[in-house]
Amino acid sequence: MKVAIVLAVLVTTVLSTDQLFGHQEGPSHERSLVKFGPLCSGNPTNQKRGCDKNWGCGDYGAKRTHGPHKGLDIQCNDGATVYAPFDVKLNGKAAPYRSPTALQKLINDGVNLSGGGLCFKLFYVKPDKYRGSLRKGDRIGTLHPMQRVYPGMTSHTHVQMCDRSDPTKYF
Ligand SMILES: *[C@@H]1O[C@H](CO)[C@@H](O)[C@H](O)[C@H]1NC(C)=O
Repeated sequence: MKVAIVLAVLVTTVLSTDQLFGHQEGPSHERSLVKFGPLCSGNPTNQKRGCDKNWGCGDYGAKRTHGPHKGLDIQCNDGATVYAPFDVKLNGKAAPYRSPTALQKLINDGVNLSGGGLCFKLFYVKPDKYRGSLRKGDRIGTLHPMQRVYPGMTSHTHVQMCDRSDPTKYF
């Protein structure tokens, strides 16, 4: 009888401890989701590009002629300073176009970065360097002259995860 009571108490204690930890894990896990720091001068809140009259929309999955948009566009003026959104490692050049037109060559540039536990590319950026490391908020470079290539488009940097998944939750 005594053994049964001791066992019952033990089981109850273990169960409630599990529930306690289980309860704490959920929210703290969500809170730990990394967020991009500001990417561009003039856009401290990482405002996303909406839709342009002639050039489509900036959200992930937006319609494009060659399948859905595989990145998220963050507003960034031509010539704006582009900043490291985390402490990052620069992993080399990342160019958006495989066969750029003469005009597209003006902006066919970008950089592959890793930081915050993520691997991602920033397109249309002219980085000061393609290799090395930077601290969060350091200057990566500047935005190429997008208006010369796509007049009237909301100038932006295109954020694309290396695995082409949706980056929106990190903003
Ligand atoms: C970006 O750089 C990382 C690290 O060098 C590499 O593993 C990855 O394949 C590159 N991603 C793309 C899409 O180029």
